[in-house]
Amino acid sequence: MKHSKVKHIADYIYIAISFFLLLFISSCTRSKYDFIIGVSQCSDDEWRSRMNEEIKREALFYPNLKVDINTVKDNSDEQIKAINNFISKGVDLLIVSPNEAEAITPVVEKAFNNGIPVVLVDRKITSDKYTAFVGGDNYFIGKQIGTYIADRLNGEGKIVELTGLKGSTPALERQKGMNDVLKDFPSIEIIATADAAWLKANAEFKFDSILSGHKEIDLVFAQNDRMASGAYEAARKAGREKEMLFVGVDALAGEKFGVELVTDSVLDATFIYPTGGDKAIQVAMDILQGKKFERENLLSSALVNAGNARIMQMQTSHIKTLDGKIEILNRKLDAFLMRYSSQKMFLYACIVIAILLAVLLFFVVRAYWMKIRLNAELSRQKQQLEEQRDQLIDLSRKLEEATKAKLSFFTNVSHDFRTPLTLIADPVKRLMESENINDNEKFLLGIINKNVTVLLRLINQIMDFRKFENGKLDMHLSEFNIRDCVKEWAEAFRTLSYRKHITFRFNAEEGDYNVIADAEMMERITYNLLSNAFKFTPENGSINISVCREGDDRITMKFSDTGVGMPAEHVKHIFESFYQIDVHHAGSGIGLALVKAFVEMHHGNISVESAEGSGTVFTISIPVKQDGTVTGSVDRKALLTNLKEGAVAMADQESLKAESNNAGKKDVSKGIVLVIDDNQDVREYVRSLLYNQYSVLEAANGSEGLKLAIANVPDIIICDVMMPVMDGMECCRRLKAEPRTSHIPVMMLTAYSMDEQKIKGYECGADSYISKPFSSELLMARLHNLIDNRKRLKDFFGDKTLANTTPLADADKGFVEKLRRLIEENIGNADFSVEEMGEQIGFSRVQLYRKAKALTGYTPNELLRIARLNKANAIIKTSSEKSISEIAYEVGFSSPSYFTKCYKEFFGENPTDVLKKK
Ligand code: FRU
Repeated sequence: MKHSKVKHIADYIYIAISFFLLLFISSCTRSKYDFIIGVSQCSDDEWRSRMNEEIKREALFYPNLKVDINTVKDNSDEQIKAINNFISKGVDLLIVSPNEAEAITPVVEKAFNNGIPVVLVDRKITSDKYTAFVGGDNYFIGKQIGTYIADRLNGEGKIVELTGLKGSTPALERQKGMNDVLKDFPSIEIIATADAAWLKANAEFKFDSILSGHKEIDLVFAQNDRMASGAYEAARKAGREKEMLFVGVDALAGEKFGVELVTDSVLDATFIYPTGGDKAIQVAMDILQGKKFERENLLSSALVNAGNARIMQMQTSHIKTLDGKIEILNRKLDAFLMRYSSQKMFLYACIVIAILLAVLLFFVVRAYWMKIRLNAELSRQKQQLEEQRDQLIDLSRKLEEATKAKLSFFTNVSHDFRTPLTLIADPVKRLMESENINDNEKFLLGIINKNVTVLLRLINQIMDFRKFENGKLDMHLSEFNIRDCVKEWAEAFRTLSYRKHITFRFNAEEGDYNVIADAEMMERITYNLLSNAFKFTPENGSINISVCREGDDRITMKFSDTGVGMPAEHVKHIFESFYQIDVHHAGSGIGLALVKAFVEMHHGNISVESAEGSGTVFTISIPVKQDGTVTGSVDRKALLTNLKEGAVAMADQESLKAESNNAGKKDVSKGIVLVIDDNQDVREYVRSLLYNQYSVLEAANGSEGLKLAIANVPDIIICDVMMPVMDGMECCRRLKAEPRTSHIPVMMLTAYSMDEQKIKGYECGADSYISKPFSSELLMARLHNLIDNRKRLKDFFGDKTLANTTPLADADKGFVEKLRRLIEENIGNADFSVEEMGEQIGFSRVQLYRKAKALTGYTPNELLRIARLNKANAIIKTSSEKSISEIAYEVGFSSPSYFTKCYKEFFGENPTDVLKKK
């Protein structure tokens, strides 16, 4: 159990660890950005790529910033869609480079009106509903170009202009700037202008047609390097590239880009058009973080030509190298950061695991410690149990030995009883047959005869049962008609059935009832079961026997009665040897065990059905034929006669209803004795002892006895302990609780002389008890004593009403008188001792004790105490000033508390309460 508990704890901890780790990892990996910036690029080219790189690099400086870049290919509709998408995603800020000013303005305004700050880069819109602008000053660049052209052409020449997308603001501003300068140089003529929409292919195509229309061209100005290189390509294809100069804008570093085209002499010059991605992010973040920012952020430009291109290239390549290094550093930093964050995560995880492990360890150690303690306790208990078991084994061995010894003693004693009993039985029978005896003697001899028969039967049964237990009971098989035999055996109970007014029937259908069995055993089964049935069936009940064939090879016999039945919990035990149900079903516990033994020896079975109050049915089923040699039944006539007579006598003796012999026998002039006993013989015997001096009333159980006692108020009651319906204890208790009978002395008759029984007897209020078997003298002596004690005690202490009815001898009268006077004189003397009392009367202490006890039933000490208590009671009842202590001392008690105790025991009340009541 402990193991599974530890396992449960481990499971919980495992789940907890997993849960915490998941929580921890998810909290570490979850990306929570403070800001999201949407970037909408109008074109997809190297210049934009450079800008995007700058944006991303700059964004790295803001750890909680996410940049989402969307690029369209010079398509305004696509860009509107992209911006709308950003708006609905709820970006925190928009960076927009509008493809065409007019087309993109509404969607930018929408974003702005929705509260999304908008940073325009490179190109502008037609409204001022934007938050900030970051980009080159295109008008200024246009002017720089105009100045450069005028200077380069020395104020004279023919130029071709290739512009960017018409609606985009750089195209317009650059053109305006250039025109504003060139208008001061009238000899410089713009011979052709074409919109190449910032694209190389467009420029190549458009310039090709211009070339064919113009024989003389001094300079081609394209608004970006891409278009300039397209024009150069067209010229090169036409073989005219050396005839003219090519000027562009952007000046991007890198292969085939502006600066390299200058060093390669493809372009004469180009102008730096800064991408400004980093600046755009800085401004955006200032806006988002609520810092101060410039609304218009114009980035400066510069001329790149043969004079500085190489240096620029070198610087650019240096910068690129540095950029590379920064990139590497950046990556390393990223890696470090990543490692740092994973290490940090790992550390946290370790801490969490360590805490959980510590908790686990705590539980494991605790569980282990508890297990050790439990084991220690268990082993201690085990040891204790083992010791107890050994003691029990030892005890049971001793008990077994003792039981064996007792049983063999019992058997031997039983055996020894048999001969004397037989020797009593026979002479008694002969005496009964004699004509010289009177009726009373005949009656007494009848009792002896009946009881000797019962005793002999009991002893015979015990001895047979012991034989059976020791495997020494033999079967003597003979062939006989079991139906006829059972019917004949049952006839022994016929007379009893008439006497008890019990309907007694025998049923068997026609058929073959020849069996091979032990006839004696069958006979004894019949006697035993019928004896029980008659014993427990009250008057007017019925007892039935039925015998029938069960198939071809079995015979069934049923013995049913309408008797008192048995409580269900006892039914299953009744075949156990020595089992006794209760005092109402008292018996030896041998009869039914023997019946079962006989049945089993016949390979049959016996069952019982019984319900308390409605009767019992015993069913026996045996095979028709027993295997073995048929030897014929042994002749044990004497034994069987005894068993038969004993069974009938037993049933008769302990029948449930006393025969009505109470009526008309009550002599009012005599004292009345009520005898309550379920054994008719006992009642009759007691009656025979008492009828000369007393009127004797009889009852067969406590309930009847109680009724008779209340109705007749006898002088004394002799009551058996074990009886059906209501036992003696209960009867006595009720007699003592009933005001009309509470004064009647009760003498309990018990078959047991054990102390426990005695105590029980006194607890229920019995005044005396006498153990069965009792001698008639003892019974009489006790009886007289009880009746006389009541009277003498009363007399001794001054109740003169009964004085004349107390037949005390003269000598005794003198003794009693002396004793009473002495006690009265010394009532207040606490030091007055029994020795002194004896001395003054002239008796020794022992003599005084014996004499007083015999005459009064009380010891001298008790008499002295009772006298003192009576005096005290009189004082309490007459004097109102005295306290309990004063009274106690006055009547010779040395301690008021002892006085209170004695008073309460004697009068049943506390003296203080009596005083108060008064
Ligand atoms: C890039 C580009 C550049 C030019 C700029 C004008 O997309 O075409 O070449 O300078 O746009 O907005």
